[in-house]
Amino acid sequence: MIDLLVKNATLPDGRKVDIAVAQGRIAEVAPAITGEAADTIDARGYLVSPPFIDAHFHMDATLSLGMPRLNQSGTLLEGIALWGELKPLLTQEAVVERALRYCDLAVAQGLLAIRTHVDVCDDRLLCVEALLEVRKRIKPYIDLQIVAFPQDGFYRDPNAKKNLLRALDMGVEIVGGIPHGERTMADGAASLKELCEIAAKRGLLVDIHCDETDDPLSRHVETLAYETQRLGLQGRVVGSHLTSMHSMDNYYASKLIGLMAEAGLHATPNPLINITLQGRNDTYPKRRGMTRVPELRAAGINVSFGHDCVMDPWYPLGQGDMLEAASMGLHVGLMTSPDQMRWAFDAVTVNPAKALHLEGYGLAKGCKADFVVLQAKTPVEALRLKANRLKVVKAGKVIAETPERVGTLHLDGRPKTVNGADYAPRI
Ligand code: FE2
Repeated sequence: MIDLLVKNATLPDGRKVDIAVAQGRIAEVAPAITGEAADTIDARGYLVSPPFIDAHFHMDATLSLGMPRLNQSGTLLEGIALWGELKPLLTQEAVVERALRYCDLAVAQGLLAIRTHVDVCDDRLLCVEALLEVRKRIKPYIDLQIVAFPQDGFYRDPNAKKNLLRALDMGVEIVGGIPHGERTMADGAASLKELCEIAAKRGLLVDIHCDETDDPLSRHVETLAYETQRLGLQGRVVGSHLTSMHSMDNYYASKLIGLMAEAGLHATPNPLINITLQGRNDTYPKRRGMTRVPELRAAGINVSFGHDCVMDPWYPLGQGDMLEAASMGLHVGLMTSPDQMRWAFDAVTVNPAKALHLEGYGLAKGCKADFVVLQAKTPVEALRLKANRLKVVKAGKVIAETPERVGTLHLDGRPKTVNGADYAPRI
């Protein structure tokens, strides 16, 4: 028995198919599926994509914009200072409530898996408790992964190590770090060694805020790659941000990228944030601050685009739209060839699925019946339009809908309506 039948879907690879769902999984993907279905969606030729994934987020800080004040300089350092001012004022209920509100927005945008960092530099571990509660409450509609993140430094904060281990004991499942935030380069490297050892010993994944700075000599990713291969963690470690690579010497970067590929590191730049927080001390020209995405990709490294922040001490904008993050990424990375733009869609769907080790992700038979019907005909068109999510489906059930965006024109001799997706895409 088919629980849900999606007719006339266009897949990201261009195939025109129907999709049958049974018992929360995809039962069949083929042209013209027939049979009784309890429910039917006519996709009318629109794109049906697996759900969006955010590989890097801060859910403990989201929607706290303006608390207790706004970031006036716009810098990363003022953002961190501001978060430090806010932390003692947080309550668990308020953090849970803001996170749940953000997840409402995420679901409406077809964003159904999020990896969030949680600050463990607070003896109360209030945000850890809050996000563990959120993870439980949103389980029916969002897969939430939580990274223990020592925001104030694993060594620099006197209690960070103890609290990070406590957070892992409480059920946080990924080890984080911030080597460029330690007091010295040597401390940064030592923190990576110890954090990777903790992950290896406990069988956990690693996701490090690594070299989020304009300093071309911030080379902690080299140590991260080294520790990854030394401890046999290949494929289990993510280097997030990696902005210093933008400013590095080209020869050194060419060697480094080979080492990263050898270690099977994943990379997660966060274009919306990197382009606004980096380069702040530059006059002109101002650096972009995003890591070397085309070069990492060419070396076979799995790259995802993360959102990082929405309306918090670091970033006053955003609405949980991963197409916006991908669009900024392709612009900042000068990635406008058809192949590169098409790849940018993967950077917020299939690539983060690999980095997050998600089970059953995709639109093949046997995968989880999680997908999004977009008001676009191709992935590149979805990026161009920041396409509306007409239907968001989780485990075979529609959990969010947005009406088609169609403008009405009042012009003599011109069409009555305009739909961006009616402009036939060539790519
Ligand atoms: Fe971050």
